[in-house]
Amino acid sequence: MDEIISMNDVTKSYEKGNIKALNGVNIRIDEGDFVSIVGPSGSGKSTLLNMIGALDKPDRGHVKVAGQNLLENENLSKFRAEKIGFIFQLHNLIPTLSVRENVEIPMYSQKIDSKEMKKRSFELLDYMGLKNRANDNITKLSGGERQRVAIARALVNKPSIILADEPTGSLDSENGIKVLNILKKLHDDENVTLIMITHDQQIAKMANHIIKMKDGKIIS
Ligand SMILES: Nc1ncnc2c1ncn2[C@@H]1O[C@H](COP(=O)(O)OP(=O)(O)OP(=O)(O)O)[C@@H](O)[C@H]1O
Ligand SMILES: [Mg+2]
Repeated sequence: MDEIISMNDVTKSYEKGNIKALNGVNIRIDEGDFVSIVGPSGSGKSTLLNMIGALDKPDRGHVKVAGQNLLENENLSKFRAEKIGFIFQLHNLIPTLSVRENVEIPMYSQKIDSKEMKKRSFELLDYMGLKNRANDNITKLSGGERQRVAIARALVNKPSIILADEPTGSLDSENGIKVLNILKKLHDDENVTLIMITHDQQIAKMANHIIKMKDGKIIS
């Protein structure tokens, strides 16, 4: 299999070096892998994920994603828009917009005409079982429904990599399972590379590989 993500000796400190969020991390992830990241609170999981998505820069080391060296890349927002789908625990949806508009946000920076945008957002909302909610304001939706909108938004530019930071953390178990099944199906059907942080051992086991972190290091 082809490598899609690699990190070499990546170190990231905060608070003038007092906190080592990442301490000499090496990873290799292949195209189409499903990887879960586990570890105690503060062990560096989100920092690692943010590094892969170019939301954060290492102090030292190399990060290569989808053939691009992120430290040399001068147009990181283009890289993110084209290659990465982000799903956050608190989903970061925009409350003043409708469901459909929220899904369309990542397409605004791409050269996509509005008819095509509408087609894609409807397709994805249909896939998420939310087609009839497209024109509702986002605040009318339940937590599980909002998380499905966030997944639709993450997929709208057809990213090759999906980064999910505790995507089911704020959901009850029934909605959590729904969201996980959608992610799993995407991975199985579309060969997307899926990297997911979770606190739940059972959920972690759905992945093909499990990265265990502790004190800014990968321990297995
Ligand atoms: N912007 C920041 N400024 C200062 N310290 C930070 C910052 N971001 C993260 N840290 C620190 O870096 C360490 C790793 O944080 P990180 O968010 O990666 O942990 P985590 O494994 O995702 O934890 P959790 O499971 O609680 O989300 C923690 O000690 C955290 O306090
Ligand atoms: Mg975190």
